[in-house]
Amino acid sequence: MLTQKALLAAARRPGLRRVVTGTPVTRRVVERFVAGESLPEAIEVVQALSADGLAVTLDHLGEDVTDRSEARRTRDAYLAALESLAPLGLSRAAEVSVKLSAFGQALPVGGHDLALELVRPVVEAATALGTTVTLDMEDSRTVDATLAVLAELRREHPGTGAVLQAMLHRTEDDARALAVPGSRVRLVKGAYQEPASVAYQEKADVDAAYGRCLETLVRGPGYPMAGTHDPRFVQQKLDLVAETGRSSDSYEFQMLYGIRPDEQTRLAAEGHTVRAYVPYGADWYGYFMRRLAERPANLQFFLRSLATK
Ligand code: FDA
Repeated sequence: MLTQKALLAAARRPGLRRVVTGTPVTRRVVERFVAGESLPEAIEVVQALSADGLAVTLDHLGEDVTDRSEARRTRDAYLAALESLAPLGLSRAAEVSVKLSAFGQALPVGGHDLALELVRPVVEAATALGTTVTLDMEDSRTVDATLAVLAELRREHPGTGAVLQAMLHRTEDDARALAVPGSRVRLVKGAYQEPASVAYQEKADVDAAYGRCLETLVRGPGYPMAGTHDPRFVQQKLDLVAETGRSSDSYEFQMLYGIRPDEQTRLAAEGHTVRAYVPYGADWYGYFMRRLAERPANLQFFLRSLATK
């Protein structure tokens, strides 16, 4: 627990970022979770996953952008990604996930408007290709702002998806509010360090909340996307889908690239839509540190690689 908190705090520390990203060993370990630093590398991974029967959501790594030109570069990177996906003819099977903080959301003046202005052309380009955009959820201070952007985008692009984090006390209400027709919601446990005033601190409480929110979303009329590697919740979702008689095109499973790949292909082979979340780009530090914090085995794998160097 202490290690987890330290790693999540380190994920936001620029000084450590320089140390960690500078070592060649780290880069090799990172490859397990990140599809590459460049778009062509990511596209190769997308093609391989697609050949294995998986859908994908492509994430151009980056977050906490503090100036406007950087935010515009994020928009351009996503437009380029969509342009590269187009000739693959994957349409709905390949979408993109965005973090609004990479589109300038956190700028103290005009951040909300800038993020909306810059993400809109990405959503328009996705719609033109017959696919969608999902808004990742960042720390709890951004939830209201992100859901406000979602509401604006959904007016013209109802397929735009959102992420809800079961660890937050508010999420059961948010899940009920978003369980409406056409609403795409990825339910995750939550990857950020949050205070007890807004989030469950015990894993058992987060898990119990996850189960309740999953039930709300799968029983509702929306399009539920379970973002988890947890076998208990994969099974709960399978049971709920069977009980409610949902057709196989009305829900999906989502897992991160490099985590439980055999389970991803197994579920896909059984006829379920499984979407792999595929991050790429040079700014992988925050994403990588959150993966280390999530699971002692990931951290051990990293430490072992350092030791054998
Ligand atoms: P958890 O980490 O609690 O693990 C539960 C069980 O799953 C383990 O006991 C084990 O059985 C199995 N398991 C987990 N990892 C494994 C591994 N490496 N190998 C084998 N078994 C493993 N978060 C966020 O805050 N905002 C977001 O927008 C997103 N987006 C997102 C997209 C997608 C597609 C996913 C899958 C996840 C996210 N997340 C996220 C991250 C999420 O909040 C969470 O931190 C991770 O998914 C880890 O939680 P799990 O539900 O996988 O269970």
